Amino acid sequence: MGQRSRGRTGTGSDFRPIRQTMSSGSESVPKRAGFLTALMAAAAMMLAGPVHAQESPASPVRPLRAPDVQYEPSDMVVVRTMLRLARVGRDDVVYDLGCGDGRIAITAVREYGARAVCVDIDPRRTAEAAANARKDGVAGRIEIRNEDLFLTEIVGASVVMLFLWPEVNIKLRPRLLRELVPGTRVVSHFHDMGDWTPLETLRIRANNRERNLYLWVIPPR
Ligand SMILES: C[S@@+](CC[C@H](N)C(=O)[O-])C[C@H]1O[C@@H](n2cnc3c(N)ncnc32)[C@H](O)[C@@H]1O
Repeated sequence: MGQRSRGRTGTGSDFRPIRQTMSSGSESVPKRAGFLTALMAAAAMMLAGPVHAQESPASPVRPLRAPDVQYEPSDMVVVRTMLRLARVGRDDVVYDLGCGDGRIAITAVREYGARAVCVDIDPRRTAEAAANARKDGVAGRIEIRNEDLFLTEIVGASVVMLFLWPEVNIKLRPRLLRELVPGTRVVSHFHDMGDWTPLETLRIRANNRERNLYLWVIPPR
């Protein structure tokens, strides 16, 4: 697992702009390079600002481990419907766990004024998301993490977006219920959460395909 270079995610003015956790690429620096080289590399990265995995010659463009779900972007109709279903607004911090090219996080910021955290295990995806956020002028309000969604911190979320896989949702569910603040909204594209009954289910048609979108709210403890 790579080192973490990320600060905490806040809900106030301390919210961090794009920071990318160093991927397993940091492990690919030859071991004999030594401490001084590592220190110089770290200093160079800090001076250069946010680093994207694909821009670093030392970073292999490969996931931290095999992804649990293959990449498939949500249609933009689905993205906007998910954000509306969660009633995303300016005070929200929207996490997309398995964020792909960042479209949900970026749309949350650009069209709903929220802040967002985009987490993906695949550095190709986080590099795309970072480039897209910059292109759309919202990089300052999105934190991008090349991390495993099962390990990333989620405490700062007020909304969590998922487009994963049934088994992955079920595996993630205890963590969501344990770590998210009561009242946090969770929206899943396509897959439910087993016997956790959603508060709302929308059936929509996008890209010539019917699909369900589910909304849950973390209950009081
Ligand atoms: C179906 S795509 C969804 C992309 C995006 N959320 C969207 O709706 O457009 C699933 C994404 O989850 C990522 N992923 C799979 N397993 C992961 C894990 N354990 N941690 C973080 N990301 C993961 C994949 O790399 C992929 O980009």
